Amino acid sequence: MTPQLSCSNAQCRATFSIEDVLYTCPKCSALLEASYPGLALDPVSTKRLWRERRMSNAAIDQSGVWRYRELLGFVDPSKHAVVTLREGNTPLLPAPPAARYGGLDALVFKHQGFNPTGSFKDNGMTCGATQGLRLGLRRVACVSTGNTSASMAAYASSAGMTPVIFLPHGNISYGKLAQALEYGALTLQVEANFDQILALVRALAEKTGIYLLNSVNPFRIEGQKTIMVEMLDQRDWHVPDWVVVPGGNLGNISAFGKGFRELLQLGFIDKLPRFAVIQAAGSAPFEDYYRRRGEFQPVSEPETLATAIRIGDPVSWPKAIQVIDDSNGIVEKVTEQEIADAKAVVGQCGIGCEPASAATLAGIRKLTAAGVIDRGADVVAVLTGNVLKDPDYIFKYHTGQLKTPSGASIAPTYGNAPLVVPNDPERIAAILEERIPASS
Ligand SMILES: Cc1ncc(COP(=O)(O)O)c(C=O)c1O
Ligand SMILES: [Zn+2]
Repeated sequence: MTPQLSCSNAQCRATFSIEDVLYTCPKCSALLEASYPGLALDPVSTKRLWRERRMSNAAIDQSGVWRYRELLGFVDPSKHAVVTLREGNTPLLPAPPAARYGGLDALVFKHQGFNPTGSFKDNGMTCGATQGLRLGLRRVACVSTGNTSASMAAYASSAGMTPVIFLPHGNISYGKLAQALEYGALTLQVEANFDQILALVRALAEKTGIYLLNSVNPFRIEGQKTIMVEMLDQRDWHVPDWVVVPGGNLGNISAFGKGFRELLQLGFIDKLPRFAVIQAAGSAPFEDYYRRRGEFQPVSEPETLATAIRIGDPVSWPKAIQVIDDSNGIVEKVTEQEIADAKAVVGQCGIGCEPASAATLAGIRKLTAAGVIDRGADVVAVLTGNVLKDPDYIFKYHTGQLKTPSGASIAPTYGNAPLVVPNDPERIAAILEERIPASS
């Protein structure tokens, strides 16, 4: 089995060395992916090996990505250093109140916010940074709505590489910007939106030899596919009916589809789940394309408070539509109000997530109401980022100050504003009795 880079375009399928520094196909410009021709694994013994590695103290086994390294053959860990912060290992959390809100009997969240930098980007970044190090590229860059930069800064710095980050000026949460600064990245805030900066950085990467760690990087996708492998391992290989995920640049859904495709081909599972991708209504070019087909139409001024999915021209849409079509999946969009309310409900479960992640629950509610997802379906929703990524949003929602990008008020349907009370035990006791009667 010689790993290679393959063009993802079925009409082209050109192949390149796994060590070529390429992000798109030089022949047809489609995205590339790592492939492993001839890979064969015994499902029974490999599943057992993966389970046994959970007991190991070796860093590579403790990583919830590299534990599944038989599926990551682009690198040989016995020859190349692996950059790991013990990413993955994220829990499956049952959430009964969220299930009720979503119109389901049961719902489980795969919470990627439990990662070292608080988002699913770490699952991919461990692989991207490992490949960058292996190629000897010491300067690494990304353009980001925030989470990618936080993750890249951490992984690059931990490996002794220099992270350079390009951010849209003024449109990223402070939690994420703070992480990039703290992890030591050279941080450039560009006066342009995400899509414009991505084009700029791709040109810069070619000119300067900086290694690009955006989701166009095929090795990031390799890491992210293991989110689904770990999820199946945690479910003793029972494939859910539905996997629901928010969609921005569509790297995650592409990675999940690749993971499932490979497991199916290798005989580890015997069916695919149906995938649902949920977009924010103000940044929903993929939902539009899914419904209309024809030409893919980017959204030139994408808007949403869920800044992680504020992407108008998602690079991975051709891979993503393949995943949706192959799985009989669906793409839906939800409003700012729907995202905000769903997010508060995830919080009430004691779980919490960032705004983009809550699009999943908002989408589930819509899809069950429309009869697309059955009440009794076995559904896993992926929460992509940690609740603390965007505290400003949370405070504004609960205090009734949250406004949509166009200035409309978002109702604090599940608001929980703090109360200012006097330093007076009797008054406070009365307030407590009124709010939470001792008899309740
Ligand atoms: C928290 C969060 N959710 C969802 C997404 C969207 O993921 P993708 O761009 O892979 O569709 C991102 C991407 O930045 C993110 O940070
Ligand atoms: Zn090609």
